[in-house]
Amino acid sequence: MRQPIIEVENVSKSYGQNSWFSRNKPEYAVDGVTLAVNRGETFGIVGESGSGKTTLAHMILGILRPDNGRIKVLEHELTDSKVNLSDMSNKIQFVFQDPHGSLNPKKTVGWSIEEALHIHNVGDSAKRKEATLALMDRVSLSESYYDRYPHQLSGGQRQRVAIASALIMNPEILVIDEGVSALDVSIQASILNLLNELKKSMNLTLVFITHDLNVVQYFCDRVAVIKDGQLKEIFNVDTFHTDPHDSYTTHLFQSILED
Ligand SMILES: Nc1ncnc2c1ncn2[C@@H]1O[C@H](COP(=O)(O)OP(=O)(O)OP(=O)(O)O)[C@@H](O)[C@H]1O
Ligand SMILES: [Mg+2]
Repeated sequence: MRQPIIEVENVSKSYGQNSWFSRNKPEYAVDGVTLAVNRGETFGIVGESGSGKTTLAHMILGILRPDNGRIKVLEHELTDSKVNLSDMSNKIQFVFQDPHGSLNPKKTVGWSIEEALHIHNVGDSAKRKEATLALMDRVSLSESYYDRYPHQLSGGQRQRVAIASALIMNPEILVIDEGVSALDVSIQASILNLLNELKKSMNLTLVFITHDLNVVQYFCDRVAVIKDGQLKEIFNVDTFHTDPHDSYTTHLFQSILED
């Protein structure tokens, strides 16, 4: 049975229109979006640059508050003042666009992965290191990386550190915002394979935000198409080629549909 783990209901967000820069933009960065993500699926969100993907992700993560609408994550209403967002943040984690920017250049790999354990006072230092090394192994980073710094790593390795940092508190949901776009194709494929493996072994639900329509095709179960902050369509990847589509989806995926 389908079990929604994230429910977004008629959610809107405006950043305000107070500069010449935003003159030609739609008023709402996210405009009346309703969708549900089911437990255990990989749910893609696609749309052109500026369509509102990251804004929507930030609202789902509780980083940004919607102007209107409701968001429920794991049965908790995010806008409910009684919900402890810090508890929630352990259950829903994110990996952002730029693994260069998201890792502290002055801190070692071990420190970055362990940080959340420190913040939440989990275990003593030996236990934290043990948990970190075990997770490093799962993301295929050898122990020798524990004491290294981000500049000593490749882009793919940094991405693995970012993923390990996101998983250290055992979340149920992982939101990945363009996590692989800055990497070249073969490394991108290995990161996607890793995410698929982790999804199965850690029972994760993935929300995957990307521009890359090819990646969506082989990585996601269902995909939401967003334009100017509005949801155009949610399609099933399995039946993508035979189902009818919204005209914008057809336009966006034209080259793929013609294959
Ligand atoms: N902090 C902000 N202040 C003002 N406007 C913003 C802010 N963040 C985003 N916007 C605007 O909101 C709209 C949606 O932006 P958002 O970053 O959510 O799009 P996106 O789909 O993630 O784009 P990209 O694919 O380039 O990452 C854009 O018009 C953007 O310029
Ligand atoms: Mg974005």
